[in-house]
Amino acid sequence: MAAAANDIAGVPTTEEEQQQVVNPWEVSAKDGGKIDYDKLIDKFGCQRLDQQLIDRVHRITSRPPHVFLRRGVFFAHRDFNEILDAFEKGQKFYLYTGRGPSSEALHLGHLIPFMFTKYLQDAFKVPLVIQLTDDEKCMWKNLSVEECKRLARENAKDIIACGFDISKTFIFQDFNYVGGAFYENMVRINKCVTYNKVVGIFGFSGEDHIGKISFPSVQAAPSFTSSFPHLFHGNNNIRCLIPCAIDQDPYFRMTRDVAPRLGYHKPALIESSFFPALQGENGKMSASDPNSAIYVTDSEKEIKNKVNRYAFSGGQDSIENHRKYGANLEVDISVKYLSFFLEDDVELEHIKQEYGAGRMLTGEVKKRLTEVLTTLVERHRRARELVTEEMVDAFMAVRPLPNMFN
Ligand code: TRP
Repeated sequence: MAAAANDIAGVPTTEEEQQQVVNPWEVSAKDGGKIDYDKLIDKFGCQRLDQQLIDRVHRITSRPPHVFLRRGVFFAHRDFNEILDAFEKGQKFYLYTGRGPSSEALHLGHLIPFMFTKYLQDAFKVPLVIQLTDDEKCMWKNLSVEECKRLARENAKDIIACGFDISKTFIFQDFNYVGGAFYENMVRINKCVTYNKVVGIFGFSGEDHIGKISFPSVQAAPSFTSSFPHLFHGNNNIRCLIPCAIDQDPYFRMTRDVAPRLGYHKPALIESSFFPALQGENGKMSASDPNSAIYVTDSEKEIKNKVNRYAFSGGQDSIENHRKYGANLEVDISVKYLSFFLEDDVELEHIKQEYGAGRMLTGEVKKRLTEVLTTLVERHRRARELVTEEMVDAFMAVRPLPNMFN
């Protein structure tokens, strides 16, 4: 990484910026502190998702904006306003998102883009393609082709459990789908990106294998309708909107750079912040520490234990001090998690006020959080149990979706 330091990729360049790193493979804040999202917006050159845009979504879809919009979980975008302009004129768009299947069990942070994408699909009534980059994980992690293919199918079940509409959704895993028109687009993209460019954007070094260097076009290709002839039949006039965490931005900066040269629309993006670890808000959760996250497979007891033991508290060290000074809501993880998953705005505000003023104790907030998370995880578990192998095959079938815009 260091050899190819470049500020477009969020790879540190200057002394002062030595510590905040955000790219598809690493997310870490400066001095173990919080990620500075304002700085990230400046650095990446995306736009802030402001209240006006959120109000516009409300107006156009005639439904209340998702919690993740209202609370700023999705906080940045590229050309989202143009998607809304087009939509208002009756023009069509589709959604594209994805997941790198590197682990069996998903944690709550993994669900966020899918929960939000499900809302967008319902609110705008648009088709969706979901890419499972089993090839990416095979190249980056020490996992075999076979294992990654298996994980992709397992993860597809969790994704399907989020409630996507099969008549509007195509899920594919790269090892099975890449070829034909999709591959033709990859080659077109590859021809537009020099080695220097990819090193500039992603920070690859001379030691990285060529699989990594050529991978970005695999993640770029689904941004173009012509990669899915069975869905779009060569119609290049349909725009693409990509909901994703902001660490994926480098891929799509590259995609947006090449799109006009290929005669395609640039994909628009709507980007989220990271879901913090239980231990505190200084980056993403670590796959290697099961106590840093709540998994969708955790039991009620495990959720309770993890929240009570590990959720970083902004409360004071003694009850007397707590009553006197109140909790520091800025660092409190229970409040943060509630702001993602407690839908009731009034209740959330109430908890913040009472806890912040010291009238409510950490234990009480944690109890409420445990309830909220248990409900969410239980609901997910029940939905996932109903997903069969046949349903996975059905979502992954290469087929036309005749009613995808209805
Ligand atoms: N690279 C992503 C990951 O590791 C997976 C992915 C592929 C993706 N295409 C995407 C994520 C589009 C968001 C949007 O998780």
